[in-house]
Amino acid sequence: MQLHFSITCMILIISNVACGSKHFRIGRSKGGNLGGPGGYGGEQLPPAQWFIQKLDHSSPSDLRTWKQRYFVNDSFYDFNNQGPVFLMIGGEGPADARWMVKGAWIDYAKKFNALCINLEHRYYGESHPTEDISIKNLQYLSSYQALADLANFINAMNNKYRLRNDVRWIAFGGSYPGSLAAWLRLKYPHLVYAAVSSSGPLLAKVNFMEYYEVVVDALREKTGGEDCVNELKMAHNQITTMMKTHPSVVEKEFRVCKSFESASANDIKNFYNSIADDFADLVQYNEDNRISADTKYRNLTINTVCNMLTSPGSEPAYKKLAAFNSIILDKSNQTCLDYSYDNMIKELRNMSWGSEGARQWMYQTCTEFGFYQTSSGEIEVFGNDFTLDFFIQQCEDIFGRKYNADFVAASADWTNSNYGALDISVSRVVFVHGSVDPWHALGITETLDNGAPAIYIKGTAHCANMYPPSENDSSNLIEARVEIEQYLAGWIGQP
Ligand SMILES: *[C@@H]1O[C@H](CO)[C@@H](O)[C@H](O)[C@H]1NC(C)=O
Ligand SMILES: *[C@@H]1O[C@H](CO)[C@@H](O)[C@H](O)[C@H]1NC(C)=O
Ligand SMILES: *[C@@H]1O[C@H](CO)[C@@H](O)[C@H](O)[C@H]1NC(C)=O
Ligand SMILES: *[C@@H]1O[C@H](CO)[C@@H](O)[C@H](O)[C@H]1NC(C)=O
Ligand SMILES: *[C@@H]1O[C@H](CO)[C@@H](O)[C@H](O)[C@H]1NC(C)=O
Repeated sequence: MQLHFSITCMILIISNVACGSKHFRIGRSKGGNLGGPGGYGGEQLPPAQWFIQKLDHSSPSDLRTWKQRYFVNDSFYDFNNQGPVFLMIGGEGPADARWMVKGAWIDYAKKFNALCINLEHRYYGESHPTEDISIKNLQYLSSYQALADLANFINAMNNKYRLRNDVRWIAFGGSYPGSLAAWLRLKYPHLVYAAVSSSGPLLAKVNFMEYYEVVVDALREKTGGEDCVNELKMAHNQITTMMKTHPSVVEKEFRVCKSFESASANDIKNFYNSIADDFADLVQYNEDNRISADTKYRNLTINTVCNMLTSPGSEPAYKKLAAFNSIILDKSNQTCLDYSYDNMIKELRNMSWGSEGARQWMYQTCTEFGFYQTSSGEIEVFGNDFTLDFFIQQCEDIFGRKYNADFVAASADWTNSNYGALDISVSRVVFVHGSVDPWHALGITETLDNGAPAIYIKGTAHCANMYPPSENDSSNLIEARVEIEQYLAGWIGQP
């Protein structure tokens, strides 16, 4: 059964290693939206390995442990000469071993003869620290614990591989792991020499209204005009009117699972959020080079969808938008659009380990980051039906009354004081973002004074620089990959 919940990127959930998680974007979980690195052609993958990790790093005398999954590619490494170690940081979804043989970091590893290691994030994929994900057990899920896992792991690998003291560890990560890469360098500078932080939201923001502003800007940027945005606006106005006058037409066109007659106020918010979500996904992953679950949908890009919406003809705008909604339903094998708020909450209250990680990511947003993609920005394209209270309500309904607006706001404030937000004080970290990626609004897109350069790529989406090169990459993207390689060369100390 398809999950339907209003939580997501960077999430998304197959290739969490590099920005794959559909849970990163708070939004409907739709499979097929992501995948491993493009260009993967069935090469043999390294086996999973298991690291005995501490449960609670904040309590050194607590000796409880669990098994954390990791992968190693040592094919480029010369254990006598000992080059750098590249550490791919896992995020809010299962680690994907395909990233151990493909992706920009593998190309860099070949050049610099690096040892490649990927550590899965606690509570995601198969890295299960506790017997279930009850609220009591989720207390050990946080970026603090994840960073301490990484530090403990680095020390252990230095011993296991008998690495010399001067071997340089370089952290890589995209999306939430992009933030973790920078924070790891910040908190453990004696263990990590440098980091490549891709599409990382460094600022925890509860009301992330800028998200949809960038989505709309991206539609303009990619189509070179207002037509697509205007058409969407018109479609939305038509839907709003018909919800009052002819709801059955909207029910049929948008293939909803149940009649609006029995819908609650939260159901309706969820319905509008779902429609907007389809565009968020389209923009966030526009033309990136991931493996398509289905080549049939490979051509879903901002430009093709905008062409669909603005094609001449007598069809009203809402019908064209409904046609796009249908494509998304088909793509994710959903027979109908389940906009039921209660169904979504029920799924997210499930305390069993499932593969998706949606509940865990929701927990991290309620307790650390916010990141709620509300409709409150300066746009009139998707209406203003999913405001902050709708998301805070979800925190309370899933985890309990304690997780209210004040709690979430205080949690995000602490995250920002703890890591420094956009004023983070780090050196040897390169921050990479794309103009079409809504997450750049919470990231560092201008070089910091203290030796942390930023690369802002015009025209690319979420984590575009992490995927393997594709024949259709823009010159901006190609240059960005080269620039990152030059920083790596400098840090590693090779010409
Ligand atoms: C949808 O179903 C097809 C055919 O059964 C399958 O190949 C595909 O992976 C499914 N897609 C998703 C997102 O589940
Ligand atoms: C490491 O990656 C290379 C390049 O894709 C691949 O040929 C090799 O088999 C990988 N090695 C291991 C141990 O997975
Ligand atoms: C994508 O290509 C298919 C044919 O493979 C076509 O039927 C469909 O209309 C295209 N979609 C868009 C959005 O252009
Ligand atoms: C909870 O999730 C597990 C694992 O995905 C699933 O097997 C189980 O049916 C779910 N329970 C409920 C009540 O939905
Ligand atoms: C590159 O673009 C062309 C034209 O749009 C398309 O036919 C081709 O499949 C694309 N290649 C890749 C690898 O996406």
